Amino acid sequence: MTANPDRYAVAGFPVKHSWSPFIHGLFAKQTGQNMVYRLLEIPPEHFRGDVLAFFADGGKGLNVTLPFKQAAAQLVNRLSPRAEQAGAVNTIIRQDHELIGDNTDGIGLVTDLDHNLGLPLKGKRVLVLGAGGAARGVIGPLLTAGVAGIHIANRSVGRAEELVELFKSLGAVTCSTFAEVTGEFDLVLNATSASMNGEVPPVPPSVIGERTVCYDMSYGSGDTAFTMWAKGYGASLAVTGWGMLVEQAAEAFFLWRGVRPQTRPVLDAIKKPMPGKKS
Ligand code: ATR
Repeated sequence: MTANPDRYAVAGFPVKHSWSPFIHGLFAKQTGQNMVYRLLEIPPEHFRGDVLAFFADGGKGLNVTLPFKQAAAQLVNRLSPRAEQAGAVNTIIRQDHELIGDNTDGIGLVTDLDHNLGLPLKGKRVLVLGAGGAARGVIGPLLTAGVAGIHIANRSVGRAEELVELFKSLGAVTCSTFAEVTGEFDLVLNATSASMNGEVPPVPPSVIGERTVCYDMSYGSGDTAFTMWAKGYGASLAVTGWGMLVEQAAEAFFLWRGVRPQTRPVLDAIKKPMPGKKS
């Protein structure tokens, strides 16, 4: 007789368009893990109570997506160093009677760039557009991966200055408004939420040279406004964040199950995504 499957979920609001159940379902099948993974849509005022109830009821692990990543960092008993650095949690692991908060977003991005896209980060000049939660989650892992420096550009420059203060001990980090950015970069990373409204951050196109890779942490069906803009100005490669989504999931799966799934078959399976899905 098969034992009851271990239970996992992704908590968000709204969450019904999430690809995470599909991705973790494929990982579980591939690695033969006895587990189920479902959607947990939680109205914001019920976040704490519903998450604690999920674990009290035997839940083994939880992914957390918008708008709860910061609230999750307040709820857990302990934070991993990378979750502490990001100020946000996207993965909760139940260990005995403790809830541990981790953040696999940054390592997901670094793995996608390095392994899937063949862009070793060592020595690269990186421009990060945006200074919200998404930017904060990836700056530490990029610096740790050995980039030469990061320039952060944001509409409200005060938020970018806060990130410079937070990360300057890890490497060369500078900031400015979009209009003030000068020079070319090896990697331009869109960590703003502008793509969700079909907008492009107003950064000068001169940041793109013929070897520049442009990466949008947003994703949808086909190009985003940012990847279309980047292609139009001659970026050598312009990609959306599907790879990051799958790699952060693989890292969470590994934390929960101790088994590292292969991500390539899963990326191939979602290559032609349906419109309107979100992480
Ligand atoms: P997230 O967790 O997705 O990063 P957030 O913390 O609300 O969400 O941050 C959103 C980021 O996108 C911010 O950097 C925001 O700029 P401001 O700090 O100036 O608000 C940026 N952003 C959102 N819409 C934008 C747009 N249309 N153009 C440029 N930047 C935009």
